[in-house]
Amino acid sequence: MASAFVKRVVVVAAIVVGVVGVTMTTVAAKRNGQAASPSVGSAGIRLPPRYRDWALVSVAHEAGSFNDIRAILGNDIAIRAYRKGQLPFPDGTIIARVAWSYVPSEENDKVFGKAQSFIAGAPTNVQLMVKDSKKYAATGGWGYAQFTKGKADAVDAAKCYSCHEPVKARDFIFTKYAPS
Ligand code: HEC
Repeated sequence: MASAFVKRVVVVAAIVVGVVGVTMTTVAAKRNGQAASPSVGSAGIRLPPRYRDWALVSVAHEAGSFNDIRAILGNDIAIRAYRKGQLPFPDGTIIARVAWSYVPSEENDKVFGKAQSFIAGAPTNVQLMVKDSKKYAATGGWGYAQFTKGKADAVDAAKCYSCHEPVKARDFIFTKYAPS
């Protein structure tokens, strides 16, 4: 009797451990960015979960109606190509343009003793260029997508492409690798 009961307890405990284990693995996988991105953008492009960890290509500031400050980041394939000066960029390259509103910093100004400091405020949007020379042949081999707060925006890739055309000689990429 007692041993049958013990056996049952052991079986139940094993099942519980198994279920908890699978759940924890799933949660860990999600944290590691292996789960699906929040939404799919134009041309089936997803916001890569780890894009924020990518290396810096350069920074830029757009005044006018944008009034933003931006960082241009690249995945490993992009950075390798940039450093080698490889053109065209190989398939698998992803370049992200991340932007924030350009705001004055009173806190920083105080220590400088004058109004001179501007920093990143609220995020505006993230734009991506994804290289796949076959899939995106109609737009120079690049897929174009835009995300606001992680959600894909409707984008006319042909418009993105036509504005990037003047730098066709640099594989449609404006941003040069900022020297160190
Ligand atoms: C009016 C012209 C124009 C349009 C339209 C445009 N871009 Fe750009 N894009 C630029 C310029 C100029 C830069 C470089 C300067 C900067 O980042 O401000 C740039 C930079 C980028 C970068 C960083 C890589 C690079 O080429 O320097 C990405 C990624 C990007 N754009 C994606 C897009 C996407 C996606 C769209 C469409 C939703 C788009 N762009 C539409 C002009 C344009």
